Amino acid sequence: MAKLKIGILISGRGSNLQALIDAAAEEGYPAEIALVIANKADAAGLARAEAAGIRTEVIPHRRFADRQAFDAALDASLTAAGIGLVCLAGFMRILTPWFAERWRDRLLNIHPSLLPAFKGLDPHAQALAAGVRFSGCTVHFVTPEMDSGPIIVQAAVPVLDGDDEHRLADRVLEAEHRCYPLAVRLIAEGRVRVSGQRVLVAQAQPPAAAAINPQA
Ligand code: GRF
Repeated sequence: MAKLKIGILISGRGSNLQALIDAAAEEGYPAEIALVIANKADAAGLARAEAAGIRTEVIPHRRFADRQAFDAALDASLTAAGIGLVCLAGFMRILTPWFAERWRDRLLNIHPSLLPAFKGLDPHAQALAAGVRFSGCTVHFVTPEMDSGPIIVQAAVPVLDGDDEHRLADRVLEAEHRCYPLAVRLIAEGRVRVSGQRVLVAQAQPPAAAAINPQA
């Protein structure tokens, strides 16, 4: 069966991009990365894509008069490359409702919290301030409202007493690197169906048990 062609949008480090590159290199993975677009020429993730032989493009947002013009340029590149699924991976631009609508059910984001908790910036600081015992990450479909679309995969990650933002971020990032390739695989295998705000996953294995933090 033909592989799903994915396009990945980045602004920086690109560790989630790397996780997807590594997953796509595995035999039998049902998606291939056809294009990586950065809105900044110095995005470190571009080198990761180049090292893997993936086509890259830089589309600097500053070169466009407004968000609509920038999003139209993104859309043109993605469409020309035959992309079937777009993954935002540390892409630090808010997309227009026009773009979200155009790529509806074909546009994913990863956010480092258990949505709908701690949307927006500094989710780890928000989690620590709220005193939650678990935070985590969420892969979701993008809708016009930020960090709000139907949720495909989440991982719960414990918050430990000695945590600061960086330690928590590192622990959550490891989970992100497992969740994003999983979500893409489920979609590429045709197992994901959106039903209103919920996502139904065919033949999903539920986790064995509740996670409790702390243990006695
Ligand atoms: C990740 O924590 C992701 O959840 C958030 O931005 C960060 C990007 O990291 N949206 P990287 O560029 O993938 O390393």
